[in-house]
Amino acid sequence: MSKLFVSEHPLIHTKMAMLRDEQTGTKEFREIIGEVASLLLYEATRDLPLKEVQVKTPIATATCKTIDTKLAMVPILRAGLGMTDGLLNLLPAAKIGHIGLYRDETTLEPVEYYCKLPLDIEERTVFLTDPMLATGGSADAAIGFLKARGVKNIIFLCILAATEGVERLQKNHPDVDIYAAAYDDGSLNEHGYIVPGLGDAGDRIFGTK
Ligand code: URA
Repeated sequence: MSKLFVSEHPLIHTKMAMLRDEQTGTKEFREIIGEVASLLLYEATRDLPLKEVQVKTPIATATCKTIDTKLAMVPILRAGLGMTDGLLNLLPAAKIGHIGLYRDETTLEPVEYYCKLPLDIEERTVFLTDPMLATGGSADAAIGFLKARGVKNIIFLCILAATEGVERLQKNHPDVDIYAAAYDDGSLNEHGYIVPGLGDAGDRIFGTK
């Protein structure tokens, strides 16, 4: 089964309290989402493979280590975009793909309406992002689309995870580790929102409500 990492870091706890607060406005909410995404990426990159490189310091040659895998960020539109700048702060050279999904009203299945990925996506470790893992429908489908394009290494990053979404991903994609800044283990409300959650992440990031 895949790993579920939930941060217990004091910085993340403090920033999560600010994100959950209904009084936090768009500018601050957007900034904090980016900060939490950076902190989460720090944890999620801990096990990446390393290679040795020789670096000439002003004094002598040092044997150093650098990440030995090609990386890509793939936000799920629209809310996943809010995490991208935070990720790029740590990995500015990473390629970025985008996946857009909507739910078909008759079949209720997620349908891909937009997908633009780096050409060599199948060679990359992909950090798939969506701030809210609620039912897990979008993440499940996006992972399926990435796998259909040959991606073998996927790590899912979210700000807040709920039990239903975690169970769905762990069942359908046991090879995909989940990194969450926080976890709410209650059920979702009748509109599919995480309780107590933080509201609609996309609306709060983009100021559309
Ligand atoms: N999407 C959100 O933005 N918030 C939730 O609570 C659930 C899904």
